[in-house]
Amino acid sequence: MIQFENISVSFPQKNGELHAVNNVTLHIGKGQIYGLVGASGAGKSTLLRTINLLEQPTSGKVFVNGEMINHLRGERLRRYRQNIGIIFQHFNLAANKTVRKNIEFPLSAANVPKGQRKKRVDELLDLVGLRDKSEEYPAKLSGGQKQRVGIARALANNANILLCDEATSALDPETTTSILKLLENINQKYGITIIMITHEIDVVKMICHEVAVMKDGSVVEHGKVIDVISKPQNEFTKKLIYNSENYELPSDIIARFGEKSIIKITYLGSDASEPILSNAIKSNHVDISILHGKIDYINHIPVGTLIVSVQGEQRDAENAIDYIRSKTLRVEVGANEF
Ligand SMILES: Nc1ncnc2c1ncn2[C@@H]1O[C@H](COP(=O)(O)OP(=O)(O)O)[C@@H](O)[C@H]1O
Ligand SMILES: [Mg+2]
Repeated sequence: MIQFENISVSFPQKNGELHAVNNVTLHIGKGQIYGLVGASGAGKSTLLRTINLLEQPTSGKVFVNGEMINHLRGERLRRYRQNIGIIFQHFNLAANKTVRKNIEFPLSAANVPKGQRKKRVDELLDLVGLRDKSEEYPAKLSGGQKQRVGIARALANNANILLCDEATSALDPETTTSILKLLENINQKYGITIIMITHEIDVVKMICHEVAVMKDGSVVEHGKVIDVISKPQNEFTKKLIYNSENYELPSDIIARFGEKSIIKITYLGSDASEPILSNAIKSNHVDISILHGKIDYINHIPVGTLIVSVQGEQRDAENAIDYIRSKTLRVEVGANEF
């Protein structure tokens, strides 16, 4: 669907060039919700903007639906862009237009006859749940409602690609969840390919199928979300994920059990059918105390985290930990390591 081939984007600067995007090759399949994560300045927005040519690659090619789009200009570019909706962190609505007029704007711009416009706007208002707000001005809306208008406007001309640039970053967690659910619903109902830029790994966990992690203009890791989150390979990805998890145990607990005895186990819901801890205890003469536990849903797949202390002779404890490691996704040793 979308293929980046050796995409680089540089910006001229006083002393040399800034390499905002550095030789990125990536494929985004049709109908996917694809996450693009990374710290601020990593090049996420610049890469995203090459899809609708708001940014022209310095080198490399972008293919969309099999067609190279780099050279599109004028009327062909204008028509191509109608297939691509975009939503932003700060919504970018026209303050002097009602909700209805905001959503209608791209339809007028595409010369859709007036008679058809009202019907289409009504459909879109229903899709995003804002039928009763159609005559309000943006200033009267909550952040979540504004983003719903943004989504309706982005999809007005039946876009088949939706670009979301930090679309939930200005919203509280509850509103974020409701917007993500709406996007997931739109993806399932219409098969629209969605690319989600975010600096929040939780957004990726909630709705993305695949994810690419960007750092300093490069993609450092990509793959299925469940794989990247549960077994991150790159140090930067690990930090991004672990920082979001925040498993700080109280210092008196760490002192009581001993920092090195405390391990964090990450396991798939399906691993839970085996009595792993009880086997580890029985065959290794150790005791295991559970200090913390929770279940996350990564793209609807249950992934558990358990923090336990393994008590026993060093050799026995190591064997027990090796056994647990062999039966689960990931084990990290030492409370200070997570
Ligand atoms: N139009 C521009 N002119 C000059 N530098 C830019 C421009 N757009 C982005 N940059 C720079 O490119 C780098 C990547 O920016 P950006 O793609 O916005 O990162 P992100 O979206 O990951 O935060 C940053 O250092 C940014 O300052
Ligand atoms: Mg950005």
